[in-house]
This record gives sequence, structure tokens and C-alpha cells, in this order.
Amino acid sequence: MENTAATKKVMLSGIQPSGDLHLGNYLGAVKNWAALAEEFDCYYFMADLHSITVRQNPAELRRRSLAQLAQYIACGLDPEKNTLFIQSHVHEHAELGWILNCYTMFGELSRMTQFKDKCAKNADNINGGLFTYPSLMAADILLYQADYVPVGEDQKQHCELTRDIATRFNNIYGETFKVPEPYIPKVGARIMSLVNPTSKMSKSDPHGCVFLLDSPEEIARKFKRAVTDSDTENCVRYAPAEKPGVANLMSIYSSVTGKSFEEIEAEFQGKGYGAFKPAVGEAVIEALRPVREEAQRIMADKAYLQQVYTQGAQKAGYVARKTLRKVYKRVGFVEKPF
Ligand code: TRP
Repeated sequence: MENTAATKKVMLSGIQPSGDLHLGNYLGAVKNWAALAEEFDCYYFMADLHSITVRQNPAELRRRSLAQLAQYIACGLDPEKNTLFIQSHVHEHAELGWILNCYTMFGELSRMTQFKDKCAKNADNINGGLFTYPSLMAADILLYQADYVPVGEDQKQHCELTRDIATRFNNIYGETFKVPEPYIPKVGARIMSLVNPTSKMSKSDPHGCVFLLDSPEEIARKFKRAVTDSDTENCVRYAPAEKPGVANLMSIYSSVTGKSFEEIEAEFQGKGYGAFKPAVGEAVIEALRPVREEAQRIMADKAYLQQVYTQGAQKAGYVARKTLRKVYKRVGFVEKPF
């Protein structure tokens, strides 16, 4: 059978526009998503509804939502092959989110580790949205009858809960939702902080984090200051347990150049960290240069961006409406006359 949109499995992921994209997002996720479009029917959205569970500056949120869309396109997500949209443009997310709240238990939501973490970090704003965040996330996924959800480790618990909610609803009302599975990519490096190589690269640690829009000078500076290991051998060798800093730099270098660890070890034999760190920086600068330039070009083209998110919202809305109509009928709402 031909692999058309009707027969392809559905892949969906959301990213909160709460920070700029960094090298970890790129090498670990977005770069690899571009290749999935041939095999899957892919939906990617800016999760702006989710992001206001933490207080946002409105102008910044708007800017980042569009900048993130531009960066996705620049990373290779072709808007003709993927459905790229802004979550709040498809109001079915909020509507199904409400319904699913009524099929999600207080106890389940209370057990979410992300909720507990966020409560600790935002003690002055523990709002209801933070608590019911996972039912909205379940709505995001179930509206599109997604088969797979590519997510990191931190979102696995939310994906599990989505499966439980879908199964519960299906058991009460009959088959309504596809029960999705987390998607663990075959390729994709786990990139660690440059200054603290045992934690994941994160925007909250700006010195250890390389942003896609950083200038070449900034990138070079960050790699020069990258932490290598305090061993005395000063030798580029892949040993993640003993030498996490060097292993991280090797993963980055391997991801951007396609070279294997053996090839990298051979290339830097006898050269030491002093030569290795700037070489990784240079390779990253060259890998990100076209992405940054393309993202900047797209960000300046407001009309094009608007066309992309309009088309995305129309395509997504069509699918979302179909699921929501079915759900409204199942739970017993009177059919809408218009
Ligand atoms: N919660 C996800 C995160 O913080 C973002 C997200 C929202 C998401 N809705 C989603 C991810 C649906 C996958 C599917 O990373």
C-alpha cells in the first residue's frame, strides 16, 4: 500500500515556547524529526497554552512562539511535509482538555513528578493549570489519534498518564482514542551541559548551553570554557563514566561531523584538550551557521510565518474537530445545530 497521509502512523510532539532552542534540543530531537516526515504523518506545535502555567512576559511569549516556529523550519521541518501550528490557534485543545480533566483523577495528577518540581520552583504561583497540565497534554495527543509521541525522559510519566486516560475513556464509551506510545528515536544524542557535564544541557544554565541563535563568537567562547576532566592524561578518549566532560564533547563532535568515536580519538591523538575544545567549537559553529542564518531570514519574513501557522492550524483543526465531535457525542452532549 502506498504510504499516504491516510495510512501513515501519526507522530506528534509539543514544545513550550518558554525558552530559545539549544544544541541539546537540536541534536537530541529536532534535527532527527526532519527525517521522520517520509514515514510518519507529523504534527509539531508550540505549546503556548501549557507555557502560561508559569508566568510569562506577553511580548516575549509572542516573540518566542514565532521564533521557535522559524527555528523548526530552519532545522529542516518542512511545513509542506509536517503540520506546524500554534496550540492556542486550535481551540479544540482547550475543549478536550476540560473534558479529560473529568476523566483524570486528583490522585494521578498529585503523583506527577513534574508538578511537584514546578511547585517547588514556583511556590508563589501554584495554580490550577500547573496541576491539570497533564490532562491538557493528553488532549493534545489524543485529538490527533497519535500513534507515537517523541519525548524526553522527563515527559514519560505524562505519556503514561495519557495512555491511562485514553484507556479509561475507551473502556467507558467504546473505542474513541488511539492509545499512544512514547517514541524512542533510533538516533539522537543526549547532550550535557558544557560546564556541568553530568546534567543535561538546559537553558537555565546559560554558560553550559549553546543556543541555536548564538553568534559564532559566543559559541567559540562557550567551547573554550567547556569543562574537561581533571584527569592528568589530557587525552581524547571515550570513557563516559570516568571522563564525562570529554565524552560529551566527543558526542557533540560526532553528531555534527558524523565521525565515529574511534575516528575522533585518532584525529586528536597526542593533541590534548587544548586543541580538541576549539575544534569542537568550530565544528558546531559551522553546523549551526546555516540554521542560524535561515532562522533569522524566516523570522524577518512575517508574512511567510503567518502563512505557515495559518495552514498548520487549518490542517490540525480539521483533524481535531473530528475527534472532538466524536467525544462530545460519546459523553452525551446535544449535537451543535450550526
Ligand atoms: N509537556 C511537554 C514538555 O514540557 C510539552 C508538551 C505539551 C507536549 N503537550 C505535548 C509534548 C504533547 C508531547 C506531546 O516538554
